[in-house]
Amino acid sequence: MEEHRPTVLVVGATGRVAGLVVPELARRGATVRALVRDERGRQKAVDNGAAEAVVADLRDPASLRRAAEGADGVFHIGPAFQPDEARMGCNLVAAAQEAGVRKFVFSSVIQPTHGTLANHASKVPVETALFESELEYTLLHPANFFQNLRGAWPGIVRDGVFAEPYPVDTRIARVDYRDVAEVAAIALTEDRLAYGSFELCAPGRFNRREIVAMAGEALGRPVAAREIDFDDWAELTRPPYDARQLLLLSKVHAHYATHGLGGNALVLEAILGRPPRTLAQYIGELAAS
Ligand SMILES: NC(=O)c1ccc[n+]([C@@H]2O[C@H](COP(=O)([O-])OP(=O)(O)OC[C@H]3O[C@@H](n4cnc5c(N)ncnc54)[C@H](OP(=O)(O)O)[C@@H]3O)[C@@H](O)[C@H]2O)c1
Repeated sequence: MEEHRPTVLVVGATGRVAGLVVPELARRGATVRALVRDERGRQKAVDNGAAEAVVADLRDPASLRRAAEGADGVFHIGPAFQPDEARMGCNLVAAAQEAGVRKFVFSSVIQPTHGTLANHASKVPVETALFESELEYTLLHPANFFQNLRGAWPGIVRDGVFAEPYPVDTRIARVDYRDVAEVAAIALTEDRLAYGSFELCAPGRFNRREIVAMAGEALGRPVAAREIDFDDWAELTRPPYDARQLLLLSKVHAHYATHGLGGNALVLEAILGRPPRTLAQYIGELAAS
């Protein structure tokens, strides 16, 4: 009998993090249909391993309905710090349901019920829409992505300094998004993660003093840990955000400064069946690249 290859519609298939889901799905035999916003995105998605691409927009429900037609699963990630992020996610949940999609994986955020941060609160309506749908949902609650360090890395190499806008002793739970992508692909191609909500963290909640020790080891020379003003940090690392998005990000950093970010690594290892990728490994890869 011929094996069924599920078709999975992937939001963010050309993006810096959700793009990592595409090769994981392809590796598991899924046919990836990338949801892209324009023709340029189509080529980029195919180059990244998508079998097909459909032009649609999370703000355009009719386009989402067409994009989801015939798909077995949907992978969704909300565009960061958008005022209508929740609406966009709910649009996609509705479209998936109307199109008769079976599985829906939502890459949400760790501590989504932390309502004082807009980028956490915006996940709750999407999760609620899934609870109220007939979709076989899986909710992923990842910690801070290792991949955020890519923006800071050139400065670390150039100046021998790792500076962020919160204290050097602040402890942050982090995760390699490649591991999150693997969990998403498992959820979309197997049944064992159906109806689950999973906190996804790598082991260790390292502070910046410990991170510069890893960077120093990887580079073979010392790296200093510093705290800088948010505006100077944004100038240095140039995150891909406008002024309004940067303001919301500054609130996340203010929260980190006071409380850090908690997270637990038990679930990720249990799902993967192997130890999660570590921050030291990731920094080693950055140094080698
Ligand atoms: N950064 C972290 O440490 C972290 C940790 C936990 C959770 N999160 C959450 O992860 C999510 C993604 O973060 P990110 O920085 O990767 O976001 P992002 O790059 O801004 O957005 C993800 C993708 O959404 C697509 N997109 C944007 N607007 C769209 C629209 N109108 N229609 C269709 N697609 C659209 C983008 O596609 P294009 O390629 O076409 O632009 C992009 O690939 C956020 O919800 C954030 O809260 C982040």
